[in-house]
Amino acid sequence: MCGIIGYVGYEDAVPIILDGLKKLEYRGYDSAGIAVMDDQGFSVVKQKGRLTALEELVRKSPIAGYMGIGHTRWATHGEPSDINSHPHLGSKNKIAIVHNGIIENFKQIKERLEQKGTVFVSQTDSEVIAQLAEHYYNGDIIDTVIRVTNALEGSYALGIMCIDEPGKLIAVKKDNPLIVGISDKGNFIASDVPAVLAHTNKVYYMNDKEIAVLTKDGVSFFNTDNEPIEKTPETITWSIDSAEKGGYEHFMLKEIMEQPRVLKDTINSALRSGENKNLLDSLDITRFNRIVITACGSAYNAGMVAKYVFERLCRISVDVELASEFRYKDPIIDENTLVILVSQSGETADTIAAMREAKSRGAYTLSIVNVIGSTIAKESDATLYTLAGPEIAVATTKAFSAQLVLLYILAVRFAHKLKRITDDQQEELLSEIAALPDKSYELFEHVDFIQKYASNCVGYKSIFFIGRNIDYAISMEGSLKLKEISYIHSEAYAGGELKHGTISLIEEGTLVVAISCSEKLYGKIYSNVEQVISRGARVLFIGNCIQAIPDDRLSIIEIPKVNELFSPSLSVIVLQLFSYYVAANKGLDIDKPRNLAKSVTVE
Ligand code: G6P
Repeated sequence: MCGIIGYVGYEDAVPIILDGLKKLEYRGYDSAGIAVMDDQGFSVVKQKGRLTALEELVRKSPIAGYMGIGHTRWATHGEPSDINSHPHLGSKNKIAIVHNGIIENFKQIKERLEQKGTVFVSQTDSEVIAQLAEHYYNGDIIDTVIRVTNALEGSYALGIMCIDEPGKLIAVKKDNPLIVGISDKGNFIASDVPAVLAHTNKVYYMNDKEIAVLTKDGVSFFNTDNEPIEKTPETITWSIDSAEKGGYEHFMLKEIMEQPRVLKDTINSALRSGENKNLLDSLDITRFNRIVITACGSAYNAGMVAKYVFERLCRISVDVELASEFRYKDPIIDENTLVILVSQSGETADTIAAMREAKSRGAYTLSIVNVIGSTIAKESDATLYTLAGPEIAVATTKAFSAQLVLLYILAVRFAHKLKRITDDQQEELLSEIAALPDKSYELFEHVDFIQKYASNCVGYKSIFFIGRNIDYAISMEGSLKLKEISYIHSEAYAGGELKHGTISLIEEGTLVVAISCSEKLYGKIYSNVEQVISRGARVLFIGNCIQAIPDDRLSIIEIPKVNELFSPSLSVIVLQLFSYYVAANKGLDIDKPRNLAKSVTVE
């Protein structure tokens, strides 16, 4: 997501901030900006595009200051544009802020301030923070920050400067990372350690709602009652390279671990407030008699899972089509068809072509996209955004999980609009979805086991995945993940199909990964497991309703209980970790697997 850097000290803040922003580039961004303060006030330079363009602008019209804040923005509310870039200033030019996170109640705050005469200039949720801070400012910036944070719902990491309190850089966070770095030449705030590592390896990790006040000579911390608190700095021993990955060996593992947070953000955006919620509230499903989901790669697998959820809840027939096939098949769609396009990048050539084909035949196109301003987001009739943040590893993990939860919510909301489920049922299903982030976190207890198990799997030439119904759909993603990054051949099979082909490939020592999150189908998949074990296979059994007879060849990973329709969100994390550790044990270039690209913009 966005990156923040701030500095107050004895040197010119501008080169320090620009350099810090470069170190945060790996987080992905679409615009960047910097605000510095000197005796004359604020100087702000910000614009859409790469950091090199920002540097060029600063070179042409130099600015300087002893204190400053910088930001790389990944758009969530409001398209990437100069005006939506950070830092944001209040209308009185008294307070400047940079923000990483999502303010869920920004509309309400904005409306309140507008009624009092505040004029907003951007479409961002972040601007309300600067405006609200100016509105509350009473001569005490700490007091103001406490009042502002009490009014905000959502997540934030903030760097704040106030013209009336020169020499004080303020930082506060909730649910988004922020560190404070200390050195003899001044003090720093940053989203992440790499941004300050060139200057210091002494950092404080901020906890939620702690307020840091940095001056050029020191840092003090306060709680929300404005009382001083003691904190101890830590010494960082990481290299810059591993610091970018948050201490993880690969971006893929970092992104797997980010999933509870990503699920929470995406679910909140659809259920609590924001553009996703507005769209879900206003979409009229009743006019469609058919749903087609079209996508590529993992996004297609998300569609395969969604088919079961939509059909079960909405009782509408859903076809899932590979976008590369859909575009050439003379599809039977018309104005009564809803075509859902799923794409992390929003730039996949085949998915774009499928969207244009669907539109030309009069279908309504709804996209589920991660990148704001991407072609699919711009051209489709409506867009729901996954709030996964930039995904760097080629093999998708967190964006896939965010796609799944949006598809579930869409299905539940549609089912309710179609009167297939009651108010109470809708409530119950949505609260099960809202519980997924916490349940997904519990899965990390299995990391050691999965790592050990995977270390014994590096020699396989082929691995099979089986499941039934929705477990089969998610096993397709497990299989794709494994082959993408470990280069081991794998196939996903519907359990019932084993006897029609794959069983001939099962021999002594073959590995089969079986998934079972449906009580109703447990007996069926268990009988498949017994069949392959009796032919010499080893089985890794993943599920939440497993009651198997112990066997040396059988290993079980129990996942938390959840409505089977939403269980893929949990089983997929185990599958991702399994693939990751198999590939890691093979010493492969996990973040950039051979021959694969993150975004396939050619046919
Ligand atoms: C590539 C990526 C996959 C991704 C697929 C679709 O193959 O390596 O991880 O699932 O494209 O990409 P999209 O951006 O449309 O989701």
